[in-house]
Amino acid sequence: MEYTLIATSTFGIEKVVANELNELGYEDLTIENGKVIFQGDEMDIVTCNIWLRTADRILIKMGEFKAETFEELFQGTLAIKWEDIIPITGFMHVIGKSVKSTLFSVPDCQSIVKKAVVQAMKRKYRRDTYPESGAEYKIEVAILKDTVTLTMDTSGAGLHKRGYREFAGDAPMKETLAAALVLLSEWDATRILADPLCGSGTIAIEAAMIGRNIAPGLKRNFAAEQWEFIPKNIWDDVRKHARKSINSTDFRILASDIDQRILKTARQNAVKAGVADNIAFQKLDMKDFSSSKKYGFIITNPPYGERLGDVKDLEGLYRTMGAVFQKLDKWSYFVITSFEDFEKCFGKQSDKNRKLYNGRIQCYYYQYFE
Ligand SMILES: C[S@@+](CC[C@H](N)C(=O)[O-])C[C@H]1O[C@@H](n2cnc3c(N)ncnc32)[C@H](O)[C@@H]1O
Repeated sequence: MEYTLIATSTFGIEKVVANELNELGYEDLTIENGKVIFQGDEMDIVTCNIWLRTADRILIKMGEFKAETFEELFQGTLAIKWEDIIPITGFMHVIGKSVKSTLFSVPDCQSIVKKAVVQAMKRKYRRDTYPESGAEYKIEVAILKDTVTLTMDTSGAGLHKRGYREFAGDAPMKETLAAALVLLSEWDATRILADPLCGSGTIAIEAAMIGRNIAPGLKRNFAAEQWEFIPKNIWDDVRKHARKSINSTDFRILASDIDQRILKTARQNAVKAGVADNIAFQKLDMKDFSSSKKYGFIITNPPYGERLGDVKDLEGLYRTMGAVFQKLDKWSYFVITSFEDFEKCFGKQSDKNRKLYNGRIQCYYYQYFE
């Protein structure tokens, strides 16, 4: 069956998600704030969950309609064929949000939607109550300016949860954002790559997974794996193909940090992700970073001050960073930070910058191309 699918993402990386979808062979994409919309079948739901590196979740869009009253919300929801997707034992969990809309009480909207979904189930199963003892079907009712969008979440835990990061540092970056930074840099495994402030190693690990073509979702499970309408063999086939697609390209990413303790965590994560052989971890103060090689890449996420460190120290850190990076021969470097005086301290204006969010913190991704 064909569905309208939504790959959600954090603000600022929708185009990266769209590029990934293009690479996977999807066309006719609609890019909106925080989402990319496209058409796909059961196989596409599985493929996108297992392969997309920068999307947060894959949702099925179940319907969209105007509603200013609870009755309109109820009828609009009832008109959708929930019973075609949710089995008699399905656990129907409704979450919600409402922005600038007449229907603003989210708990009320959630219970109306739940009632309408149960009513829809009666068309097929002819029962008043349902055990809800089976797989979870998480439905979201999102109302924006009186337009209701109903979606169903196929991913379960957010796609940033790859399954390799049991341990994290003080200010870890989401795996999806780290992957986006690498993809935006256009690094490829023939080039040297370094993260001299690597923390728990997320950027290096995501880059190594890209270099080896390791599907990000290979080692985790998804909500839709429990759903009856997606045949189990599709999951098996996509995983089998993903396993076969891993290459054994030989490259070594340099990941260093001043903090010995965090490097231990980073190493453990790299082992779990299956890329320990592709990353050389080293305890090193960024001020001592150097290389005689040409055309390398640096992608890094230094302290911002909000969560770690002190603003005065930061100026010094960014000044040192500018001097150290600019000494390198024909390197490209990429720095994500919320520190407002970054370019001034770094001592060079970026070729390009992009507004991004690291969690709730608004940042810029400063890009210097060789
Ligand atoms: C924001 S964290 C990086 C988080 C990382 N991207 C992750 O996902 O875990 C910044 C890191 O910079 C390191 N750091 C701070 N000053 C440093 C210096 N002078 N040299 C090397 N590392 C430094 C800190 O130890 C910290 O791990």
